[in-house]
Amino acid sequence: MPQIAAPRGTRDILPDEFAARRWLLDAHSAVAESFGYRGIETPIIESSELFSRGVGTDTDIVEKQMFTFDDRGGRSLTLRPEGTAGSLRAVVGAHLDQEIRPVRVHYAGPFFRAERPQAGRQHQFTQVGIECIGESSPALDAEIIEVAWQFYKALGITGIQLQVNSLGSASDRVRYRAALVAYYTPLEASLCDDCRRRLHTNPLRLLDCKRDARFVEGAPLLWDSLDRPSRDHFTAVLRDLEAAGIEAIRNDRLVRGLDYYSDTVFEFWHDVLQGAQGSLGGGGRYDGLAELLGFPATPATGYALGVERTLMVARALGTIPQAPAAADVLVCSVEPAEADAAAGIARLIRAAGTRTVLDVAERRLDRKLRGAGRIGTRVAVIVGENEVAGDSAVVRDLDGHSQQTVPIAELAATVTRILGGAS
Ligand code: HAM
Repeated sequence: MPQIAAPRGTRDILPDEFAARRWLLDAHSAVAESFGYRGIETPIIESSELFSRGVGTDTDIVEKQMFTFDDRGGRSLTLRPEGTAGSLRAVVGAHLDQEIRPVRVHYAGPFFRAERPQAGRQHQFTQVGIECIGESSPALDAEIIEVAWQFYKALGITGIQLQVNSLGSASDRVRYRAALVAYYTPLEASLCDDCRRRLHTNPLRLLDCKRDARFVEGAPLLWDSLDRPSRDHFTAVLRDLEAAGIEAIRNDRLVRGLDYYSDTVFEFWHDVLQGAQGSLGGGGRYDGLAELLGFPATPATGYALGVERTLMVARALGTIPQAPAAADVLVCSVEPAEADAAAGIARLIRAAGTRTVLDVAERRLDRKLRGAGRIGTRVAVIVGENEVAGDSAVVRDLDGHSQQTVPIAELAATVTRILGGAS
């Protein structure tokens, strides 16, 4: 029978990588919480409408990349491709923003997009993110960027490139759309199929097209369509970033791949991810999204960062800490007759707070001790016939290669002392 493989575009996370991810996820929670963000979790399956209305029907994500299916009642559900619409729904739906504003939340979890799989681009991937909901201050746009910046710093990642732009207000974009249509209409015959269609439905998406990139160069600039308050908002963001010591590169063409943005948008890039995989993370302000989802108007801003891509960069820069050993102590019996005594001793040492594995298999002692080396334990506790009779055990320091016979009553303390001294 053929072996069953993991589905295309998904990966198994084995223990060494699991440890690296935990390091990353812990760092993100710690940094976000140091800014007052609190953890939330929202469902992995959502009503498809959340994304068609929220992310936008003309986006690549909604048009081509969603895993959508009907439930048994015929309702259309989608594996979430992103976390902003769900987080906003959760926070505003529970009226958290009526108790305190802004509501600061952080999250981490799996997301799904049916993109062509390649390094750094999967069907199932992981994001960490934050959303700051309920206020429109530019200071909060700068704050969320600073959270991401501190997160990269906590991981030891240097060389991050921050690109920023402003998409202005809804009325700015009406003006800009008109300018784009005037520019692209004479070029219509040369555009790709998607762009030709989007020219009539959502011209801003044309700036996002990889195939028609050559036309983007000559397109009108968004900045020229922004009114005074929009320009002031963006100027304030840039000023706050500078005050925080964060270098921002203005990219007039940055529009992001999701429709819900207004005013500030940004992306993080790194040279390690040469082109193909795309950005390390991104986000921006989305003041109009709550209304699109049927809630009262609620300004908000946030970001999401790709965990797999961030780990690719951390790995290339060598900043991932070595995965810890599975346990510090191996307890083993010499013969099967001592198995129960060995199990009791393992419990005793664990109860004292030391990570302990038990080996009572029927194999030679030297094999068991070699196994201990492979697991990375630093102490072996050996229980044979004499030890059981004497209420004791042999404690071997695998680093120092010394050993001693210790009464059971002193065992946990002896092991702790050896581990403490060796670390
Ligand atoms: P996004 O730019 O679509 O933004 O995704 C954020 C990050 O998720 C990307 O920069 C990338 O690192 C990672 N990512 C996206 N697709 C894939 C994939 N197929 N494989 C691996 N990694 C991927 C959002 O999702 C917005 N919700 C961000 C946001 C939060 N805006 C406001 N608040």
